[in-house]
Amino acid sequence: MSSNTFGKLFAVTTFGESHGPAIGCVIDGCPPGITIAPEDFAHDLSRRATGKSRWTSQRREADVVEILSGVYQGKTTGTPVALLIRNTDARSRDYADIAETFRPGHADYTYWQKYGIRDPRGGGRASARETTMRVAAAVIAKRWLKEKFGIGVRGWLAQMDDIAPDLPAGAGIDFDVVESNPFFWPVAAQVPELEGRVNALRKAGDSCGARVDVVATGVPPGWGEPVYGKLDAEFASALMSINAVKGVEIGAGFASVSQKGSEHRDEMRLDGFASNHAGGILGGISSGQDILVSIALKPTSSIMLPGRSVNTAGDEVEVRTKGRHDPCVGIRATPIAEAMVALVLMDQALRHRAQCGDVGEVKPRIGRRQS
Ligand SMILES: Cc1cc2nc3c(=O)[nH]c(=O)nc-3n(C[C@H](O)[C@H](O)[C@H](O)COP(=O)(O)O)c2cc1C
Repeated sequence: MSSNTFGKLFAVTTFGESHGPAIGCVIDGCPPGITIAPEDFAHDLSRRATGKSRWTSQRREADVVEILSGVYQGKTTGTPVALLIRNTDARSRDYADIAETFRPGHADYTYWQKYGIRDPRGGGRASARETTMRVAAAVIAKRWLKEKFGIGVRGWLAQMDDIAPDLPAGAGIDFDVVESNPFFWPVAAQVPELEGRVNALRKAGDSCGARVDVVATGVPPGWGEPVYGKLDAEFASALMSINAVKGVEIGAGFASVSQKGSEHRDEMRLDGFASNHAGGILGGISSGQDILVSIALKPTSSIMLPGRSVNTAGDEVEVRTKGRHDPCVGIRATPIAEAMVALVLMDQALRHRAQCGDVGEVKPRIGRRQS
């Protein structure tokens, strides 16, 4: 069995490797009539791209999208939408040293064990290059969700190493600030500290982990499929499919463990819920509150510091990874996390419409005031 398709009704299949000729996706089930042009993908792809700042991998890809099918006169037709991006800046010689060696912490050993063969160039299919197509597919999903429901999906870097945003408790996120720096960091004054940390890590040949938070606003109540397709389970699965993600939290997440019931429950008034520890999901169904999800990303495994490993011949060896790598994979993960949240919501919207489209708005409906 293989698993390269995501979603049931808005089904996105991705293909391609880091250093192959191209990467691409086919979206089956895309609603007809969505206005889309190749240049519409540029903004989000550029947010995800490497080589845009000194703080990420220096691979420079143009990420130009070719629409191969499913769009006529600028609108989706309901037939499969096929998108292609050609790889133009692969440097496979960087991987010659590790072609026979398993990097500790990377997917080299497990791909070898599963398939008995692997493409070591740039991490092959396990490279975060694959996530480019998720971001591209989500451009269409984000547009539809915005037009149909006014839904917005925004993320930010919520921790890098041990640095947390210096925000007063309860303060909102200023997305103009988030978009004004290459870290997607919500506090401009802390950006030099982040730069200093990345510089120090690079000098030490090491890497660090990160946390990304995403909020989806405007999601109507009622989406999600109890019990095996609970909305929170769908988010967990989708976000865990992102490379290097080792943890997912919904709402208060693991902090719920030390909360009391009186604190955790989100009390209800007609004009809104009093808090949002549930992260906008109750019983696997959206409540109409903001959806709040967080991911923990592990430190990059390809680092210059020597480490112990084994090679394909069965020798114990020392490995140092050269080449162009992200010192903190979380720095570029914000648009990818947003994309997975948008793809889940798009699929759930269509699934809800299929089963419950006739139910309509049920009274009473709690307002959107958030305290
Ligand atoms: C945006 C992003 C960029 C990444 N860049 C690198 C990288 O430069 N070098 C690396 O070794 N891993 C990188 N990774 C992580 C690997 O792709 C990932 O650790 C590997 O596929 C093993 O999968 P796992 O960590 O999910 O177990 C990146 C991940 C993301 C999300």
